[in-house]
This record gives sequence, C-alpha cells and structure tokens, in this order.
Amino acid sequence: MPPDANAAPRVRPKSLVQEYLLEQLPVYRELRELREQGWQNKTGDIYFENRRQRADNANAIVKIGFFKLMRRIGLELDAMTAALTIQGGGNSRPAILDLCMAPGGFSSAALYRNPSALLRGISLPPSLGGHEMLLKKPWSETDPDAQIFVSFCDITLLADEMGTPVPSIPASHPDAASFSSDRPFLEQKFDLVVCDGQVLHTHERLEYRENFEASRLLTSQLVLALQRIRSGGTMVILLHKADAWASVLLMYTFATFSDHLRLFKPQNAHRMRSSFYLVATGVRQGCEAAVEAVRQWKAKWRMATFGVGDGGEEGLGEGELEVLESGGEEKAKAVLQEIGPALVRMAEPVFAIQAEALRNASWMKSAPV
Ligand SMILES: C[S@@+](CC[C@H](N)C(=O)[O-])C[C@H]1O[C@@H](n2cnc3c(N)ncnc32)[C@H](O)[C@@H]1O
Repeated sequence: MPPDANAAPRVRPKSLVQEYLLEQLPVYRELRELREQGWQNKTGDIYFENRRQRADNANAIVKIGFFKLMRRIGLELDAMTAALTIQGGGNSRPAILDLCMAPGGFSSAALYRNPSALLRGISLPPSLGGHEMLLKKPWSETDPDAQIFVSFCDITLLADEMGTPVPSIPASHPDAASFSSDRPFLEQKFDLVVCDGQVLHTHERLEYRENFEASRLLTSQLVLALQRIRSGGTMVILLHKADAWASVLLMYTFATFSDHLRLFKPQNAHRMRSSFYLVATGVRQGCEAAVEAVRQWKAKWRMATFGVGDGGEEGLGEGELEVLESGGEEKAKAVLQEIGPALVRMAEPVFAIQAEALRNASWMKSAPV
C-alpha cells in the first residue's frame, strides 16, 4: 500500500520514552545536558578511548583488577538486592547459571554467598578474544559433574537453542560452519541466572555481525536463561541506557512474568557509563507471558542474524524495523501508560549516579577542545 501523504509522521518509541522521562524526572534532564556537554568535549573522548585501550590490551595485573572489581560489584549488588543469595527451602542443591562468566567475579561473589551451590557457566573462548577465567575455586571444562563446570563457546551461535536448527541454515551464510546445535545445561534448573554479556572489541567475528551484535548477544542470553531458570528464580541482566526503548520494553516484558523488578547501578564502578542491571525475582518460568517473550527474542535473534542487509538500521524496511524495535508508537504509549511511574521510580537512582559522576568528571571541567 502506498504511504498516506496526509498521515501524521511516525513518532519513534525512543523519542516517546525520552520525552516522558524529560517531563517526569529533573535528574534525567540534567543528565541529558551533561551528556550533551560531554559529547562536545574531546577530552572526554580521549578519556574513554584510553580506558578502552587499557581494557583491550590488559596485562595480568589489569585482568586481576577487573576480576576483583566484578566481584565487588557482585557483592554490592547482593547487599542492595539480595539477588545473589539463594533462599533455601527446597530440598535441591542451590544452582547458579552464569552466562558470559569470565573472568568470574560475579560467580566468585555468588559462591561466597552460596558456598555449596552448583555453578554452571558459559563464556567466549579466550582463543576467540574472550576474557580469561580467573575464578580461584577449582573449576572444570571437561568434567560435567564438577561443582563448577564451564562451557567455552560463542553463545550467539547456538542456533538450535534459538529455534533455528543448524541443518536449516543455508550453506551460503557466512557463519554456516560455526553455528552449533548444542543446548548446554538444558536438563538442569537454576535458582539464579546471571546474563552479564558485553560485546568485546577483542572478539574476532565476521563483518556481518557488526551492526546488531549487542542484540544477538542479549537475546541469546535471555532465551537460554529463561529456558533453564527454576520457577520463582532470580535473573540479573546487564543493560545499557535506562532511557532506551529496548531497555524499557525489556523491563515491561519482565514485569509480565516476574514478581518484582529492581534496577541496580554500582556506586563505585562504571559510574560514568549508562550501564545498569535489571534484577527480576520470582520469575514465572513457563507461564504464557514467558513463553511469548522467548518467542519474540528468538525472532529478533533470527532477524539480526539472517535478515539484515548491509545497510544497518538505515537499510531496514518498515516490517523489519518493527521487529527489531518491537512495536511502534502505539506499543510505546501503552507500555509507558502501564509502567511509566514504576520506570521513573526505578530509573531515578541510575540516572542520578551517572549524572553525579559526569558532573564531577575532571575532563568536564576542562574547556572544550
Ligand atoms: C563484562 S564481562 C563479564 C564479567 C563477568 N560477569 C564477571 O563477573 O567477571 C563480559 C563477558 O561477556 C563475554 N562474551 C562476550 N561475547 C560473548 C559471546 N558471543 N559468547 C559468550 N560470551 C561472550 C566475554 O567473554 C566476557 O566474559
């Protein structure tokens, strides 16, 4: 059907969320101004570039420092939300699944809180650019009965897990030989699942993955997690930008099958960044809403893996954009209507921490160059 020349212009969900937060939250308004100033200040770019270089070329001391930092963040998360402390009660041994586990700081914190727990992890092999495992407790990558067992693989290539059987993938796909039909830990149920994946610059991957890798990584973790969590369990998920439509939609989605949601941003690390954690407790695995969420995440993964041409987001048609953005204007309005006040309440401390850090950043005080 040809586009209606008289139709009102499409408002993107992203803009609706931002306008809503600007109206409701003074600290978000301040954060937007600070970000704007930051973008105009090259000293800030240099600061972040230096940190990136340091992370990409980390020596042994820097790597241990990162492990300890992640352990501290895990303990702080637990102090604020009790998310890592598995409540006893059942007869079974507490079980933890740590997705994108290395270097293992969160696992170390979770084991400190639950010393007898069974721990299963997945992490990108260091040979492909993944982090090294630095967990001090003995762990195995060969003995599936060990207390701590880690499977090293690229979690975004588990095609059968994502509902796309390997034999159905055309041989012409650039990654055809790399997809896997493995479904790790499918028979096990976990009380706690951590999804802390972060796309790494050091990860050697094919060109076609550049545009939508963050979406592929997140959807892969979410599908794996929700198909293995025990009903009533807890999920901890790393996200970026609490004002992004994708983040808000994810909070809304989790609200449909969890008893309680919280957002956590550490007080002493990554303060200047937009990253934060979504903590969902009482996750009702297997309920209709959870099954529907898994279906949609699989569809997104398929779109990002097979359906997107070279043009990136700009090159997408209406239908494809709709899938990647998960609905349009009407959906965003309905979501804000339903969880807007909760979003404001949960996100305020996250924005406040980032705003305070940016306000006090040494490079913000220098004249723009
Ligand atoms: C922020 S670090 C996780 C830190 C870890 N949770 C901790 O507490 O020490 C991000 C992790 O994502 C992993 N990762 C990135 N891309 C991945 C992929 N495609 N498959 C599996 N793991 C991946 C990295 O190897 C790294 O271990």
